[in-house]
Amino acid sequence: MAVIDLYDLRASLLSDEHFTRTILFRLATFYLLWKAVATTYSVFFGPLSKFPGPRMAATTQWYRTYIELVKNVSMSTKLKELHEQYGPVVRIGPNELHFSSPTAYNAIYQQKFDKEPILYKSFGEDESSFGYLSVKEAKPRKDLLNPLFSRRETIRMQGLVQEKVDKLCKNMVKRYEEGKSCNMLMALRCAAMDVITTFCFAKSVDSLDEPDFEAPIIIAMESTLPSFLLFRHFPLIRWLVFSLPPWLTMVTAPKMKGLLDLQKMLSGQIAEVKADPSVLEKTPHRTIYHPLLQEANVSAKSLYEEGQAMLFAGTDTVSNTVMLAIFHILENPAIHKRLQEELIEFWPDLNTTPRYEELEKLPYLNAVIKESLRHTPAVAAGLLRIVGPESANIDGYEVPQGTVISMAILFMHMNKTIFRHGEKFVPEAWLEPGAKELESKLVPFSKGPRMCLGQNLAYCELYLMFANIFRRFDLTLDGTVASDLEWRECFLPWYYKRHIHCYTKPRTA
Ligand code: HEM
Repeated sequence: MAVIDLYDLRASLLSDEHFTRTILFRLATFYLLWKAVATTYSVFFGPLSKFPGPRMAATTQWYRTYIELVKNVSMSTKLKELHEQYGPVVRIGPNELHFSSPTAYNAIYQQKFDKEPILYKSFGEDESSFGYLSVKEAKPRKDLLNPLFSRRETIRMQGLVQEKVDKLCKNMVKRYEEGKSCNMLMALRCAAMDVITTFCFAKSVDSLDEPDFEAPIIIAMESTLPSFLLFRHFPLIRWLVFSLPPWLTMVTAPKMKGLLDLQKMLSGQIAEVKADPSVLEKTPHRTIYHPLLQEANVSAKSLYEEGQAMLFAGTDTVSNTVMLAIFHILENPAIHKRLQEELIEFWPDLNTTPRYEELEKLPYLNAVIKESLRHTPAVAAGLLRIVGPESANIDGYEVPQGTVISMAILFMHMNKTIFRHGEKFVPEAWLEPGAKELESKLVPFSKGPRMCLGQNLAYCELYLMFANIFRRFDLTLDGTVASDLEWRECFLPWYYKRHIHCYTKPRTA
């Protein structure tokens, strides 16, 4: 009897197992068939089928993963190739288009389209002015912060920027006196980081005090940049990495120390201001917390993410712009000479310090800064937007609602019908009679409702950094060549080769 029972049991288990397997097999077959039909429809008959592009891109999202992670090619480099082959609009994903013609730029970015979630959520700054996906959520936050980043406030706070630039110069002198060249990328990053932490939190992380500009926070930011690509394509990995307890992160990735220290500093400060907002009365100047605490029920998470967004948005962008320009200026002795002569004439006595508003009036310095902003891929990636709530006409094409669209800034800035000198660094272009027209095509800070919040501060930093570096020093390159400046697109550019090094000989008069 017992034997029969066992036999029956085994048979019924087997048949259950068989049943489950059959169901699973059928479901999988059904899913694959459905996927094949849906993909075929989307590629050949769907609303985006009329747009040209590689067949593989129209078929699967993995096309981009393949380009970026397997072939190790920046998407912007691939896009250049694709636009040459297919024209001003290319289908680069099953649901994604990229545009390249200057008229498309405003049509995309002046509208109130949402940011695309997969890209923007990969930064872990969902509740910040940068990370909110909709204009509806971002606008009230930006309205609160705008007065702090207004031109008037930046002019009032310029002493704070000058103080960091002075410290940068002092350390550049020290380095020269030690007979060493200076890693300008690290030096400028430290300066920009100290500006932004002082400006936003009234608490500098003092990266400029670190020997040889090797500040842990800058090293940590530099080492997280390439992981952005992995996180974007595999969000689960990002989640796993960021869920690790700090001690484990320190063991597995010691380069992250600076970021962990910063997280600790910011979290501590936020806990303090949340517990007792009156501590803000004691800060030497207004910080981002002053306006943000006016937001009803603002969470500690949101305060933290806003702080982090400011650091990432305001450090590499500024420092890369100055760093790349230094290289081009030093490569072109005529530009270097003209810039220095203008600065010496305007600023004869090195014991004085000119103000930002005065420096803005110098025509050649002005032209150099515009050309630097044009030339630097400060934000290299296409800023993805989702067409909605209805379909939209972009550059003469009817684009269906829900389509992901973008136009990377460098397609505007390197367009030879507008900027005839293309990839050459030519400040003179901004002094020619037709230059006013070029200004509307200069979009380093993007356009429309999601344009950069920090552009006034950025301009103040750029003027003070350029003026002080080229007036106070005779710079020469230490072996840096153009190929050292190659970069990979990781939303921001990642300069993965030997950084630019300069000998920084101080001028005495
Ligand atoms: C040369 C320097 C800079 C350049 C070229 C630059 C460029 C940009 C660009 C292109 C965007 C649009 C990003 C997007 O749509 O996803 C942006 C957004 C932003 N930038 Fe800047 N930026 C610079 C400096 C700064 C600084 C110093 C800050 C200071 C805090 C800052 C804060 C922000 C913020 C908060 C946003 C998000 C705005 C939004 O999404 O509505 N940026 N920036």
